[in-house]
Amino acid sequence: EKGGFPHFMLKEIFDQPDCISDCMRGRVNTDTCTVTLSAVSNYKEQLLRAGRFIIVACGTSWHAGLIGKQLIESFCRIPVEVEYASEFRYRNPVIHPDDVVIAISQSGETADTLAAIELAKSQGAFIYGICNVIGSSIARATDTGSCIHVGPEIGVASTKAFTGQVTVLTLLALALGREKGTLSEEEYHRIVKELVAVPEKMRTVLKQHLFIADFSKMFTYARNFIYLGRGYAFPIALEGALKLKEISYIHAEGYPAAEMKHGPIALIDAEMPVVIVATQSPLYEKVLSNIQEIKARKGRVVAVVTEGDTVIRNLADYSIELPATLECLNPLVASIPLQLLAYHIAVCRGMDVDQPRNLAKSVTVE
Ligand code: M6R
Repeated sequence: EKGGFPHFMLKEIFDQPDCISDCMRGRVNTDTCTVTLSAVSNYKEQLLRAGRFIIVACGTSWHAGLIGKQLIESFCRIPVEVEYASEFRYRNPVIHPDDVVIAISQSGETADTLAAIELAKSQGAFIYGICNVIGSSIARATDTGSCIHVGPEIGVASTKAFTGQVTVLTLLALALGREKGTLSEEEYHRIVKELVAVPEKMRTVLKQHLFIADFSKMFTYARNFIYLGRGYAFPIALEGALKLKEISYIHAEGYPAAEMKHGPIALIDAEMPVVIVATQSPLYEKVLSNIQEIKARKGRVVAVVTEGDTVIRNLADYSIELPATLECLNPLVASIPLQLLAYHIAVCRGMDVDQPRNLAKSVTVE
């Protein structure tokens, strides 16, 4: 059942290229480079009149929501708020009848997310669900939605559900952006074409599995980690840090890279590992100077870079190269090495990665 892998988590990490293809099947036409989401076709009016999107979720699904915010704002020019479901439900939030709430949940059973939906519904908002488990409580409570179709996720640390959620959010933002006319036809087709190439790029990243396994051994000593990224890579940093915390029990913090000098830089010394997503983007030079600042303080840098980046390769202690893709699709590719890093560090420390202490796969109580 683990398909020859020692743990479900590793199997699920390796399943991701196929999962993303499954998630796109029937939705992305690879000949015409177009996207059809049945929920968008069937509820076009409710979705297009949205004055605002509010994403509610917990944990990893909340991190997917942060990426969804950037995608929807950039492709559709509609404001998006991303809320922890647990905070939203108790805050007496402002909800308008023309708000569309996007609820993201792998299990579809998270108590706080369900309660946030019920609250938004009671105030007249339209609810769009992004779930994995068909027929789950959240899937049933929503007005419409899209399943991520990644198959059952057994490992407590979410991996393939995260990339599945990000894929659905990308499809949603593309479909809406085209309908609204906020995304040019040229840009739309270019992004769809690149999205179709993502599973193959994920496979290329997975080939670095043994390299990552090998250098992970160097970090079993660590008690703390910092994860940094900017723009689309900031939620990747948060998600990478959460993965490490959950399964290795090493304390890890994710920050937007530019926030480093507003506090966390005080933590950097020769003992402090810093994982930094420094792939090609308009902010590349700024992230590069963050790496220089960390090295000047003797921090140990694991950098996730675009292939061929010799500048960072010469600076970082370890660099993991990714195939180039569009910045907006980078989270799908760049999250994989951080999943593998967390996995291998946890395994080196002898932890039970599929059943980490104190955690349940679905959090059905608040
Ligand atoms: O089933 P959900 O997506 O609603 O679950 C939300 C969180 O409990 C979940 O993502 C949790 O953070 C995972 N253990 C992360 O790996």
